[in-house]
This record gives sequence, structure tokens and C-alpha cells, in this order.
Amino acid sequence: MKNSSFTPFSPDTKSSAATTERFDSSTHADRLTRTDSVGSEKAILVGVYLDGQGIGDEPLNELAGLAEAANVFVVDRIVQRRRKPEPATYIGSGKLEELKERAAVVDANLILFDNDLGPAQTRNLEQELKIKVIDRTELILDIFASRARTSEARLAVELAQLEYAMPRLKRMWTHLERQGVGGVGLRGPGEKQLEVDRRLAQKRINDLKDELNQIHSRRQREVEARKRSRTVSLVGYTNAGKSTLLNKLTDADVFVKDQLFATLDTRTRQWRLPGWGPVLLSDTVGFIRDLPHHLIASFRATLEETRQADLLLHVADASDNDVSRQITAAYQVLSEMEIREKDTLLVLNKIDAASTDNIRALQLQYPSAVTVSARSGDGLDRLTAAVSDALSREFLLLEVVVPVANGRVAAMLAKEGEVLSKEYTDETVTIKCRVPQRLLGQLQHDTEVTAVKSVG
Ligand code: GTP
Repeated sequence: MKNSSFTPFSPDTKSSAATTERFDSSTHADRLTRTDSVGSEKAILVGVYLDGQGIGDEPLNELAGLAEAANVFVVDRIVQRRRKPEPATYIGSGKLEELKERAAVVDANLILFDNDLGPAQTRNLEQELKIKVIDRTELILDIFASRARTSEARLAVELAQLEYAMPRLKRMWTHLERQGVGGVGLRGPGEKQLEVDRRLAQKRINDLKDELNQIHSRRQREVEARKRSRTVSLVGYTNAGKSTLLNKLTDADVFVKDQLFATLDTRTRQWRLPGWGPVLLSDTVGFIRDLPHHLIASFRATLEETRQADLLLHVADASDNDVSRQITAAYQVLSEMEIREKDTLLVLNKIDAASTDNIRALQLQYPSAVTVSARSGDGLDRLTAAVSDALSREFLLLEVVVPVANGRVAAMLAKEGEVLSKEYTDETVTIKCRVPQRLLGQLQHDTEVTAVKSVG
């Protein structure tokens, strides 16, 4: 793991924080939220699931994928079913003993929990096990931190990490003491130091929120300004093939890698949709089950494009045995992000890597889904036809005739829809346009409109 959130402050940070009370994100916040690379760690995965909770055959597979994305080597897995979590340690005492023994046998130096742990639970577990304990949220934040490339993504991740770290500051200091980092004036932070750190971190959180709010407002204006073009947004589980599809459809050169969360920002490209014309196609952050709330909130600006899209293409990996769960998880994230229900087309990707039987079963389960392979190009014609259809549903192709002197109607058509051509006679102009259906009644009743004819 590269960027564990639970890094104790280094002594120099501590003293500068205490004396100057300035919070410099490049130094103090980094130390608050990140650590130096500790090389590859050996981890035991632990999942505690409540009775009745549907977990599938291999509940820890997704966590194993996350561990791999963080360069952690998985050496063992422990699963426990419980009626409710043990308040102090989440896992029951018997299993905790077993975990301790297995950790010693396999020489693990990290425990990864598939659950969200409270600060006290993590502290108790670490005291008991004498090994670093990281929960699912922290692991995801860590991966996001190492993947963030744009300044916006970096700000969003830093905010999410700081908010996660705030209630855990005390634990960070405990680490520091246990590691024997000290010296004159540095033996234990004391309440005063914690107070200073909290205040500085809170100030940085407020600054980051301000900055991200500004970016969000700017983004809203940008997206609004593009509203004249139809917009289509690719969403879906991480690694489903969204960036590959964007590249294939638009000839864009977008980073594609077989790893979770390769994309953390939003990229928008023009897509010449056959039979329709240009639309804007965007690719954004991949989703995952139970994406940490802090992250969802801080990626608000990044997801603005998706929020305002006319159509969502929900891309899923048909070659993954867990695809149904991934589809459900992606819909759940969309609702958590308060992205209103809108036209969504399910795209089952990677059919080149899926068995015919599996594809058939998926087609029965999702009859309106489009099956494609972004890699081979198979099915892309079906996809473009389906997108064209979906976009046309709310639109009409019209010829609107108005007197040449009338500029108002032409301006309204250009604002609300897309003007495709204009033909003039001495007295009239015939405007061929694609406009939202709702305008039809308005145009038919407009006394300055000479004629309206549907041509699509
Ligand atoms: P995130 O950025 O994590 O959200 O991923 P993504 O959904 O953008 O996926 P990406 O396009 O980066 O692809 C992930 C992996 O799947 C890459 O290794 C791609 O080469 C591979 N992939 C994408 N489409 C296909 C496909 O149709 N078939 C096969 N076999 N592999 C594919």
C-alpha cells in the first residue's frame, strides 16, 4: 500500500504545526493522510456479514481485487456470520483469537476488513492483534489517492481522506508513541496538540470544500453551456470497460488499464453518432459496492456531467460471474449520488470473453440490454442504433415555417433544440430542426408560426 491514511505525523511536522499553526496541504495534510511506500504487505482479509445478508459464494473476492489494486499480497481469508457486530472489535472474540493465530502462522503484517470499522474498533483490534488494521473505506481512499491524476481528483480525495481521518487523529498519535518516535517535547501529543491538529485539519477541510464548490459551480456552468448538444454518459462498475468503449466510439486516447479505478475524472468527447449527428460522450469514475460516502460527496463536481446527461450508458462486464451484483451496486451508487432516474441503457460488454451460455442467460435476465465487445468492436452497430433510438424518443424532427422577419421562433428553436438547416423564400424561412416533443404543442399554437410539419 502506498498511501495509508493512518500515518502518524513525523516529528518535524508536529513541531511546525504546534508553533506556526499553519496547515500546508503539501506537507501537513500529506502526512496526515499519506505515508511513504511500505512495499508489498502481506494481508489477511476479514469479512463479517450479518445473518440474512446476501453475500454470494466468494464474498471477499471484491476486497481481494481492491487489495491487489493497492499492491497488497493476500495470504489468507476469514469470514464470519453474526447476528450483529461485536461492539468493541466488530468480529467475535473466538474469531479474533483465530485471526491472531493465523496471522502469526502466515506472518501477516496487515489485516484488511471488508466492513467499515469505527475508530475505537480499529484501535482495539490493533491493540489486540499488534498488526495494522485497515477497513474497506480506508483501502478505497488509499487506492483513489494513488490514482488521482488531475488536480480536481486530488482535491476530492484529500477532502475525503481528511474527513475520514478527523475522528481518528488520536489513533494516529497512538501509533507514533508505540513506534517510539519521540524526543524532547515529543513524548505523546497531549490534548493540546490534538486540539491544534484538529483545528488545522478542520480549516483545511473547509478550504478544500470551498475550492471544490467553486469547481462544481464552474462545471455546472460549463455543462449548462453545452446543453444544446445531446449528452451521453458512460457509468458502471470499475473495470467494466467504459474507457475502452469511449476510445472505440470516439477515437479518443483515454487511459485504459486492467485495474480498478483507472479513471478518476470525467472525460468528454464528441461522438459522431450515425443517423443522428454529433453528441457528447463522457466517461467518469468507476463505481464499486458501498463506495465510501465521503468520496461520493467530494466527487460531486466530477459527476456533474453524469447528473446532467440525457442518457446513461450503464456498462457492465458480461465476462464476470458477479455481473448481476455489480449491476445492482452501480444502480445503488447512482441513487446515492442523487442522480435522478433517467433513460438508461444497459450495455453488457466483453462478450468476447464470456461463454455463449452466460451471454444467453444474461440476455434473458436483462432483455433490453445491448451486448457488445468494446475490444473487438462486435455489437457497436447495435449500440449506436439503440442510443440513436433512445435519444430520438424525446425528440421530434420538424420543419417549422415562419415569416422571414421573425427571429424569435428561430432563436427559440436553436436554444431548445438543434437547427439542422434553413431554407429561405422571399417571405418565409423553413427551419428543419430537432426539438424536444414538449415544444410541439407550443409551436402549433404560436400565432407567428405559419406551419409545422413532422418529417422524422
Ligand atoms: P475504471 O476506470 O476502473 O472505471 O475502468 P473502465 O470501466 O474504464 O475499464 P477500462 O476501459 O479501463 O477497461 C478495463 C479492462 O478491461 C482493460 O484491461 C480493457 O482492455 C478490458 N476490456 C475492455 N473492454 C473489453 C472487451 O470488450 N473485452 C475484453 N476481453 N476486455 C475488455
